[in-house]
Amino acid sequence: MAQQGNFKSPARMGGLEDGASVSSSGAVSGGKPREDGLKGVNFERRSFLGKVVGGVGAAVAVSTLYPVVKYIIPPVKEVKEVNEMVVGKASEVPENTGKIYPFNQDKVIVVNDNGQLTACSAICTHLGCLVRWEDKENLLFCPCHSAKYKQTGEIISGPQPLPLAQYAVRVEGDDLIVSKA
Ligand code: FES
Repeated sequence: MAQQGNFKSPARMGGLEDGASVSSSGAVSGGKPREDGLKGVNFERRSFLGKVVGGVGAAVAVSTLYPVVKYIIPPVKEVKEVNEMVVGKASEVPENTGKIYPFNQDKVIVVNDNGQLTACSAICTHLGCLVRWEDKENLLFCPCHSAKYKQTGEIISGPQPLPLAQYAVRVEGDDLIVSKA
């Protein structure tokens, strides 16, 4: 059976001749000082590998965080400001109902009160909730803190500091056209 563990190869023995003595049992005593033993280590290579590992780590972190940040901060939608636009079809707002449409950066509620069309901002001037048309009471109502406005946006009651911004509305064919008042 071949000897294992305490094998003394000629090459190893030669390497030990400089600074270490070998006992008859094969144990190495003394040896080179630690500083001498580190002479063979290539520190440039080690720092290069460190930079590569750091770069890969940074790339992984960026590729992981990028979609998260993009999800949290949605892209800014550029809305082109217009003075007038077709917001929908007149048939979408039957009598005694109201419907909200986007208009520039605002939202506009078009109300059809027995055939009389009006339009004003649907964003409550208190804290920005959307108002709705309450046909039984014949008014615009904000469900957040009970602000009440007339059909044309003037304040009836509630905590809101300002009336709703007014818009003009007309029908051409079946097109519902809203414009700045
Ligand atoms: S947000 Fe409308 S009443 Fe407060």
